[in-house]
Amino acid sequence: MENKTNFSQLLSPFSIKGVELKNRVVFLPHEPYYGSEDHLPTEKHQFYYEERARGGVGLIVMPSLGVHPSGYYACQVAARKESLPRLKEITATVHAYGTKIFAQLTHYGNQTKSVETLQPTWAPSAIPDMTVREIPKEMTGEEIATLVKAFGQAAQLLMKANFDGFEIKVAHDGILRQFLSPAKNARKDEYGGSLQNRARIVIEVLKEIRPYIGDKPLGIRLCLDEFIPNGYSIDDAIEYAKLFNPFVDYINSDFGTWESMAYSLPSLNFEQGFHLKAIARVKKAVTVPVIASGRIIQPAMAEQVLESGTADLIGLARGLIAEPYWVKKVEAGEIEEISECTGCNQKCVGRLLQNRAISCVVNPASGFEENYSRQVLSSRSPNPQKVVIVGGGPAGLKAAELAARKGHQVVLFEKSDSLGGRVKLESSLPGKKELGGVIRYLTYVLNRLNVDIRLNTEATEREVLAEKPDLVVIATGANRLNNPGTYSIEDVLNNKVSGENVLVMDYDAGLEGTGAVEYLANQGKTVHWATPVFFNGQDNEVATVLLPIYGRLGTKKVIAHPMSVMVKFDNGQATLLNPYFNRTEILSGIEAVIVTGLRAADNALYAALKGKVKSLHLIGDAAAPRDTAAALADALSLSSNL
Ligand SMILES: Cc1cc2nc3c(=O)[nH]c(=O)nc-3n(C[C@H](O)[C@H](O)[C@H](O)COP(=O)(O)OP(=O)(O)OC[C@H]3O[C@@H](n4cnc5c(N)ncnc54)[C@H](O)[C@@H]3O)c2cc1C
Ligand SMILES: Cc1cc2nc3c(=O)[nH]c(=O)nc-3n(C[C@H](O)[C@H](O)[C@H](O)COP(=O)(O)O)c2cc1C
Ligand code: SF4
Repeated sequence: MENKTNFSQLLSPFSIKGVELKNRVVFLPHEPYYGSEDHLPTEKHQFYYEERARGGVGLIVMPSLGVHPSGYYACQVAARKESLPRLKEITATVHAYGTKIFAQLTHYGNQTKSVETLQPTWAPSAIPDMTVREIPKEMTGEEIATLVKAFGQAAQLLMKANFDGFEIKVAHDGILRQFLSPAKNARKDEYGGSLQNRARIVIEVLKEIRPYIGDKPLGIRLCLDEFIPNGYSIDDAIEYAKLFNPFVDYINSDFGTWESMAYSLPSLNFEQGFHLKAIARVKKAVTVPVIASGRIIQPAMAEQVLESGTADLIGLARGLIAEPYWVKKVEAGEIEEISECTGCNQKCVGRLLQNRAISCVVNPASGFEENYSRQVLSSRSPNPQKVVIVGGGPAGLKAAELAARKGHQVVLFEKSDSLGGRVKLESSLPGKKELGGVIRYLTYVLNRLNVDIRLNTEATEREVLAEKPDLVVIATGANRLNNPGTYSIEDVLNNKVSGENVLVMDYDAGLEGTGAVEYLANQGKTVHWATPVFFNGQDNEVATVLLPIYGRLGTKKVIAHPMSVMVKFDNGQATLLNPYFNRTEILSGIEAVIVTGLRAADNALYAALKGKVKSLHLIGDAAAPRDTAAALADALSLSSNL
């Protein structure tokens, strides 16, 4: 295990314009979707930030506070006087742990919609963001002046909430980046044309805010590369950073736009620390401190970023969603106890993009801290019991962790020779190794918590009752539905599928189906990909997970058949029906059919034990076949029984 002294940089204090941070870790701004529909902060925000402050982070940046109603979006919190009472409680709560908190200010510009703003949306030019596709109104000079003033007024108001500093968002979304972007700003006046003109409004906003905030730090969240056609690149961003340097106290790095979101929120399809080279270039060009960002997961990488002078501070968003106690665990030298973000983007970004409050696959308590803070989950039960868990997949392992942390005596049966259940399959798909991180973490903590793990032991009614348990959890997963003459995902991953021209009938539309297609295509096969949904793989998070996979499949022999179900397979001929167009298509020369996504809950042991033990629970795929996220969340929901 690594020891504390290895992280001397990461744990060292740092000052931003006189604001003392106790360490170098910053909880990056991210919209959690916990605001009310009228843009007010809620108790959920407070519990959420308190958990990360308790977990030791040095600085929290509270995201995207709306400065003007023409730029509000969804459940974003607005810089309105009605927000002040709760914001004051949030800053006071965070301060009680010695953590500092800054406010990020923004206006969504062409990245909101008129159904939100009840007026035409504002933008530098009448050019839409292609993910929103609503044509905005080109702002007049008066509207630009109103916008600049609105940033100042918002900062003035938020001073009353005791924020320690402020940051303007010139990032993957927001009107200020839209002004910087040659792709979105085609103005002919002093706010468009040259790089200096495009930057004008940002400098005006910074100058407007400054008098209202006195000595407090003022930073900029700056997109360092738009990664879109005709957008600005890292070379331009360096010029922007140099222009803004005299007016700011720090630069918080950011990348991409909604049109290139895979770069803003890099998923496991990108290597860890993907953006660090670009960040190092900016750091060299400016004199103010720089915050690094983008899939920094491991403390060792964070320490290396600081040691090498790539940046001054380490920004983590998803890392601390997945592990609120990241800093405390680094301080204690308990690196292996960190529940790492896997980069799946399923329940953070994925839920946000469905306009839902965010949570986390590997940390289902995230966003539910009011009921499931670490303190509550780790409080010892006054009445220790014997708990038997059947199934060593994610559901069973998480249930075992929660029970053992409460001080119960836990026995876990797993019939195979290793823990992980179907996550072992998930993580053996192309590029998906990191999904196995959750099993690494759970295995580690179960061993530390002395859970009695019995591998190679298929539990029957007899084995369970022999333990004389007080509480039994059945987490036996699901079985493949019998589909004679077809192959399963297990067959694919065990290389049992022969033939060069194959059909994947994908009822899953998530990673199981998409992964099977990629696995087979990587073997050089021609893969017909049929799915009943409107576009192939649509249940993956689309912008950050599916599109990078599409990018890879584009170079392979993959033929997509959306809105299609196989209704007949005979002599190498597969008949696909498109029920919406009421058309059929015949594929010839198909040598193998692989079916994904059809499973039945394995609840036989639950039925056998019903009425025979004091307390019996069914969780995960054994309750209903879903996904790892649901398996872990089911385990969490058991905690009130523990
Ligand atoms: C290829 C693939 C890709 C996937 N991709 C994703 C994804 O991207 N995101 C996502 O969230 N989910 C994904 N899933 C789904 C996810 O893996 C499952 O939903 C999840 O593993 C279910 O967890 P579980 O613990 O309920 O069941 P399982 O993981 O099936 O674990 C059940 C365990 O119980 C054991 N067992 C069964 N009966 C007994 C018994 N009588 N005694 C002892 N042990 C027993 C089994 O051996 C197994 O280890 C994917 C699945 C596959 C196959
Ligand atoms: C759910 C979610 C919402 C986000 N919202 C914002 C936001 O409001 N403002 C912002 O500047 N960045 C936002 N981000 C981007 C993060 O600050 C960060 O740059 C990104 O997640 C990459 O860092 P990470 O790999 O540490 O997560 C968001 C990220 C996530 C996951
Ligand atoms: S849902 Fe996935 S990507 Fe998001 S924070 Fe959790 S582990 Fe990371």
